[in-house]
Amino acid sequence: MIEIENVRKSFGSLEILKGVSLNVEKGEVVSVIGGSGSGKSTLLMCINGLEPIQGGRIVVDGVDVHDRRTDINKLRQKIGIVFQQWNAFPHLTVLENVTLAPRKVLGIGRREAEEVAVRHLAHVGLGDKLGVFPSKLSGGQQQRMAIARALAMSPDYMLFDEVTSALDPQLVGEVLATLRMLSEEGMTMIIVTHEIRFARDVSDRVAFFREGVIHEIGPPEQVIGNPQRPETVEFLNSVL
Ligand SMILES: Nc1ncnc2c1ncn2[C@@H]1O[C@H](COP(=O)(O)OP(=O)(O)OP(=O)(O)O)[C@@H](O)[C@H]1O
Ligand SMILES: [Mg+2]
Repeated sequence: MIEIENVRKSFGSLEILKGVSLNVEKGEVVSVIGGSGSGKSTLLMCINGLEPIQGGRIVVDGVDVHDRRTDINKLRQKIGIVFQQWNAFPHLTVLENVTLAPRKVLGIGRREAEEVAVRHLAHVGLGDKLGVFPSKLSGGQQQRMAIARALAMSPDYMLFDEVTSALDPQLVGEVLATLRMLSEEGMTMIIVTHEIRFARDVSDRVAFFREGVIHEIGPPEQVIGNPQRPETVEFLNSVL
């Protein structure tokens, strides 16, 4: 599980995370919503050890992410992260893009890496795009390739940072369907999203971020359907 305890994070003198606590159980899907600049992306970067923290701790499967003795590269293999836009290597095919990290980082042989990659690419609906170059893919297909690439590392956790926000509206649905499929398969996920209806449908819990803390958290029927705090109501009114 992911245990986030009273995490504080600053950039220079600006404190972005002001004591964030959140436990994500195995198999749980937690969506994170909140205004621009509230620290959602920063939190994901901290979970993945891409950013240091100034207080509190983040523990993944019993291992402290920010402990100096932690093998962060090894820990990161457990945690797949997909961003708003992922710059695929343009000179590599879809299949080569997806096999690259398993081969280089995990040291898996070409054949096995390709088997795994083909399986994940088929799973996200790109089984017919193996030999294609990324520039020939639609935005939604590129995002699904990014998801396949993360899955090819066999992560135990997946973090998604607004993976649909750069997409044309007609392409959003196919990427959300992929996330929904992963959630149904039991993947443990933290999904930062502006897609409130999607968050309501797919999440076990929704966390509303505001001013560097989790202002309200609970099942979607509460946080989205019947928010308890006026700021949550205000935020939902502004985005729905
Ligand atoms: N590398 C950095 N250096 C300095 N400040 C940063 C850095 N990254 C983020 N910030 C600041 O931290 C704050 C939170 O940023 P963050 O990207 O986490 O917000 P967010 O909730 O993801 O917003 P959005 O919904 O727009 O993606 C912002 O004020 C941002 O300017
Ligand atoms: Mg962000």
